[in-house]
Amino acid sequence: MRAHSVLIASNRGPVAFTLSDNGALTMRRGGGGLVSGLSEVVRGTDVLWVCAALSDGDRGAVRQAPGGRLDQAGNDTGPVRMLDIPPPIFHRAYNAVANSTLWFVNHLLYNTPTAPQFDTRFRREWESYREYNGAFALALAEEAAHDAKVMVQDYHLTLTPAMLRVERPDLRISHFSHTPWAPPEYFSLLPDDVAAEVLSGVLGADHAGFLTARWAGAFMDCCEAFLGARIDRAARTVTHEGRTTRIGVHALGVNGAGLRARAAEPDVESHMTAIRDLVGDRRLIVRIDRTELSKNIVRGLAAYREFLGRHPEWHGKVVHLAFAYPSRHDLPEYREYTAAVQRCAKEIEDEFATDDWDPLILNVHDDYARSLAAYRLADVLLVNPIRDGMNLVAKEGPILSERCALVLSREAGAAAELGPDSLLVNPYDVSGTATALHEALILPEEERIKRGVRLREAATAMPPHRWFEDQLAALG
Ligand code: F6P
Repeated sequence: MRAHSVLIASNRGPVAFTLSDNGALTMRRGGGGLVSGLSEVVRGTDVLWVCAALSDGDRGAVRQAPGGRLDQAGNDTGPVRMLDIPPPIFHRAYNAVANSTLWFVNHLLYNTPTAPQFDTRFRREWESYREYNGAFALALAEEAAHDAKVMVQDYHLTLTPAMLRVERPDLRISHFSHTPWAPPEYFSLLPDDVAAEVLSGVLGADHAGFLTARWAGAFMDCCEAFLGARIDRAARTVTHEGRTTRIGVHALGVNGAGLRARAAEPDVESHMTAIRDLVGDRRLIVRIDRTELSKNIVRGLAAYREFLGRHPEWHGKVVHLAFAYPSRHDLPEYREYTAAVQRCAKEIEDEFATDDWDPLILNVHDDYARSLAAYRLADVLLVNPIRDGMNLVAKEGPILSERCALVLSREAGAAAELGPDSLLVNPYDVSGTATALHEALILPEEERIKRGVRLREAATAMPPHRWFEDQLAALG
């Protein structure tokens, strides 16, 4: 094989398959920020995308494809190799280690009096994570041309760069973290050997990329604390065991023209009409998230509740449109969190709703066109994550609504660029967020427009194709 000169590796791939009762497979585009950004960039190119089969539908498709190459089985995917990793190994690697451990560490999500507990069960899960990372390394080693550039994505694949380097020292390898990186005091929750393995795994890359200088700094701090690596903070390099890895900051943004064109399509227009019919001329506070623990939806709703309690003059004049789409429902914490969001919404309804005013519309069913409609109508966009790698919602909103005021968590990566023109909040400070919602609602029109221009500029400064090119260039 060894045919491709640029390769991408990520857990979730550009397509997903659904298996119907009669055994037929239906293909759709893969979801999530990473996938939509990268899909746009590689469409029509020869870049090979290596990803994992996530469902029975995906596994069915892989089995019909020679060597897992979906494109060679006649699918209109572009070059994609999907890996059929045995389900128990995949689930331990994806759910137990990537999503329940590394994600929790990097987003500071543990309720530490009871979790985490690193026991013998975890060791089995960790072994599966190694196997899963090894399967990616092997596939990449098989597919990459001599001297090819391989771009490994995210916390699912922290060990792959080092494993791949052992197999194919000729390759130029990058790793990109789409999440925050934990500070050493929190990263130290991980068992020492696991912490060291994660860091050395990423350092197997020639270039390790992050969304903000803050996450890059935290990674370098961890390398110093846990590996004793030599750090040059000014030059952004980490030297460990005789090799130097360059650290890069690439603040992924949005393709403004593409997003505006999609948001002008008829399905979005009809959702706008439906929303207008529902809320009339009331002011709109919008939030759009996956129902993800890090997104802080419960505190966001609590802040809206406190705002309504403190400002009766707004009763009947404002509606909060909260879209909280399903995410990671294999994990009990996520199912419980969704229930907590729904409970909170019900309490707001019970306390404030009247015969002719619904203060909150919570929707838990994913609908991209409706989200775009909500952005276009928003007076205020609330983005209050506990911690977030970037948060592209904060960037998409201002692109689609010229007069939308942004209430933004200072812990979102996007705050580094959008902070000066947002109303920044401490995500744990419910009262502070309630105050910011009020200030955002009463922000003068002229100020909204002025801030909007700057927010749009920042949000579109590094669209996905530039972000991708920058990282290719960083590999020389
Ligand atoms: O934030 C990192 C990230 O990889 C996003 O790019 C993506 O939206 C999300 O996590 C993926 O989560 P999952 O694949 O578990 O739904």
